[in-house]
Amino acid sequence: MPDAVLVQNLKKRYGSTEAVKDVSFEVQPGEIFGLLGPNGAGKTTTLRSLCTLTTPDAGKIEVSGISVLDNPKIARQKLGYVAQEVAPDKVLTGRELLQLQAALYHLPKAVTKQRIEVMLNLLDLQEYADKKTGTYSGGILKRLDLAAGLLHAPDVLVLDEPTSGLDIESRFIAWDFLRKLREAGTTVLITSHYLEEIDALANRVAIIDRGVVIATGTPSELKDKLGGDRVTLRIREFSPVEEAEIARNLLKSLPFVQEIIINSAQGNSLNLVVTQQNDALITIQKTLNEAGLPTFGIAQSRPSLDDVYLAATGRTLMDAELAAVANRDPKAEKKQNMR
Ligand SMILES: Nc1ncnc2c1ncn2[C@@H]1O[C@H](COP(=O)(O)OP(=O)(O)O)[C@@H](O)[C@H]1O
Ligand SMILES: [Mg+2]
Repeated sequence: MPDAVLVQNLKKRYGSTEAVKDVSFEVQPGEIFGLLGPNGAGKTTTLRSLCTLTTPDAGKIEVSGISVLDNPKIARQKLGYVAQEVAPDKVLTGRELLQLQAALYHLPKAVTKQRIEVMLNLLDLQEYADKKTGTYSGGILKRLDLAAGLLHAPDVLVLDEPTSGLDIESRFIAWDFLRKLREAGTTVLITSHYLEEIDALANRVAIIDRGVVIATGTPSELKDKLGGDRVTLRIREFSPVEEAEIARNLLKSLPFVQEIIINSAQGNSLNLVVTQQNDALITIQKTLNEAGLPTFGIAQSRPSLDDVYLAATGRTLMDAELAAVANRDPKAEKKQNMR
């Protein structure tokens, strides 16, 4: 079976901006594949190239084995695209918009009626179906968008930041819907700059940074590459640095401890990387207790995708987001929105 989506060495520049420098990934049929990266990383440009909405400068793109560049019409039928920003016609009702969408994809009349019912039920939209979309909240609009994207039963549903800007409730509804899709075996390509979202929903992920894929794998593969769990502990709320150093020297000799950093910003707390071991916390506490050092607080956690991003780029996703906001060029954005 061909890959549901194949993207190989994709490149796209806008003037002096290299929006996509080198992006490659494959999506297997039936998986939810996440593209994770901060604002400006090139996620939307990648999806727009896949969905024939922009022409890349170089690279290969296939959907179910069909070349998107050579056969755009066939490829489009196989894709359902839900854009990041939506501005639907406010005068039409939700149902009318879905009917329009069905016509765009040449769905037969009999099929259209039935598919619209299925989608309205799936996204819990029945009570809104005959109201004008101008009266919808952002969350309801996004649900209508998702319904439209799935209406023609595409091989691959492509979602660009489907929950960005949504309130918590709408976000949970969207997540719930995506989990249902996963259970039904629908292939989904989703972008997000929310770590939790990709971590919770995607079977596999590619982390993209400044136009380049920097890591690909299942969330747990990526985390495992970083080594063991993180343990954070404090001797007391604010330990003198000498005390933290004594603790570090004691813990350094434990066989399962790989690395220890003293975090002075957090009252000289200790951050440890440990190989996976069930009784790590107990052993650490016992070692410190025997030396007369109390533990004020101790916690163990798996590395997060943010740790993966940090290891690959030297900055956290949050810092990258803040930098993207600071570097924003309003003129370039206006131009982008007009396209
Ligand atoms: N149509 C466009 N014209 C000019 N610059 C663009 C256009 N689309 C995207 N860019 C630029 O390309 C880079 C990647 O953008 P984008 O693909 O939207 O990233 P993401 O979706 O990850 O936030 C950004 O620097 C953005 O400003
Ligand atoms: Mg985007």
